[in-house]
Amino acid sequence: MRTSLHATSLESPKVDVTDQEILRKLETTDWSFESRIIQHEVESVHPYPAKFISDLPAAILDALPSRPNTLLMDPFCGSGTTLAEGQRRGLQTIGVDLNPVACLIARVKTAPLPKSAAQSAAMVLDKLGNSAALVPLIPNLGHWFKGSVQAQLANLMQAISEAPAADQDFLKLAASSIIVRVSNQDSDTRYAAVDKPVTGSDVAKLFERACNKLYEALERRDYDLVNSRVIESDILSFDCEDLEKKVGIFITSPPYPNAYEYWLYHKYRMWWLGHDPLAVKQKEIGARAHFFKKNHHTADTFIEQMSAVFEIMNFVAAPKAWACFVVGRSKIHGLIVDNAKIIEDVAAQAGFEPFFRTERVVKSSRKSFNLSHANIKTETVLILRGAQ
Ligand SMILES: C[S@@+](CC[C@H](N)C(=O)[O-])C[C@H]1O[C@@H](n2cnc3c(N)ncnc32)[C@H](O)[C@@H]1O
Repeated sequence: MRTSLHATSLESPKVDVTDQEILRKLETTDWSFESRIIQHEVESVHPYPAKFISDLPAAILDALPSRPNTLLMDPFCGSGTTLAEGQRRGLQTIGVDLNPVACLIARVKTAPLPKSAAQSAAMVLDKLGNSAALVPLIPNLGHWFKGSVQAQLANLMQAISEAPAADQDFLKLAASSIIVRVSNQDSDTRYAAVDKPVTGSDVAKLFERACNKLYEALERRDYDLVNSRVIESDILSFDCEDLEKKVGIFITSPPYPNAYEYWLYHKYRMWWLGHDPLAVKQKEIGARAHFFKKNHHTADTFIEQMSAVFEIMNFVAAPKAWACFVVGRSKIHGLIVDNAKIIEDVAAQAGFEPFFRTERVVKSSRKSFNLSHANIKTETVLILRGAQ
């Protein structure tokens, strides 16, 4: 069944037989993934706002020709869905993201399960009852966490910092995944403090459960864990020389103006893990705060940012590289902005030509903190191809 709206094969100057085959595959894909049944376990090890359902990068990768030595890049990799799907198909992958929680999730999902992860988790749990770590100075902590929870989270973070380096990402991800559960925050998508029946003793219980779930999800990956790199960086100051080879396929979903708030979603996770969410907010493309200040950002800011991203992509792209963008519309001060059109225009300036475009329905379960965004029900899948 094909349910995508207005699937169009855009005119391309050189459409040979292979191109037609690719187009046929893209055009016959059900981009709403209505009949989706598979959810890979690694997808649900940690929440992430606006993450891809894995079928999306999977469908793109299954339609595009690639060789085992193709490098797949996601310049806004978030929780690493593109990287995991590339890895599942034997591709080398590289992801960049500004958000340290995103990078943590992406790293753990694509790295081998550390041999002593279970042992380290047990050691951390052992230490929890017998320590009295200092609670870090975190703004507004009392509003979001009960005293007993603060004390146990401080113990947890200290015990994790004493674990072997090779196990720390595993342990931090398990800890990060329980922060909102043990806080007073209503839910991952509702940033309001409520009276929840949580206490310090829930920290150890939930951490143990999270470690078990993560362990099983990582252990059950039944494919080769081909080399994957995750770079924590603002893409706008990404060092292009950092790549050893050229990128054959880009698959990404960029942050767009005034839509999701990645820094806010992970604010207290970042504080507890020792990062500064306010520094992330400053550099986060599209963050709401940039649209409600003096000299606020506009759609033009997004055009400049995406032009810079395409300049970088152009620099690292192999000849005729594919660039696949999944992007929704934004509302900025009441005006709807067609971000897909912006991407198409800046891509054209960088020599990337349109190959395929379709609208896909976004499930209403994909919520954000920003309600003005909640009315936008479709997003565009845009596939472009670079120059020779
Ligand atoms: C739509 S999300 C990507 C989600 C991803 N596809 C997934 O499956 O999890 C966009 C990402 O852009 C990141 N981002 C925002 N500003 C950035 C910047 N200046 N440099 C790099 N990444 C940035 C956000 O942290 C967020 O993870």
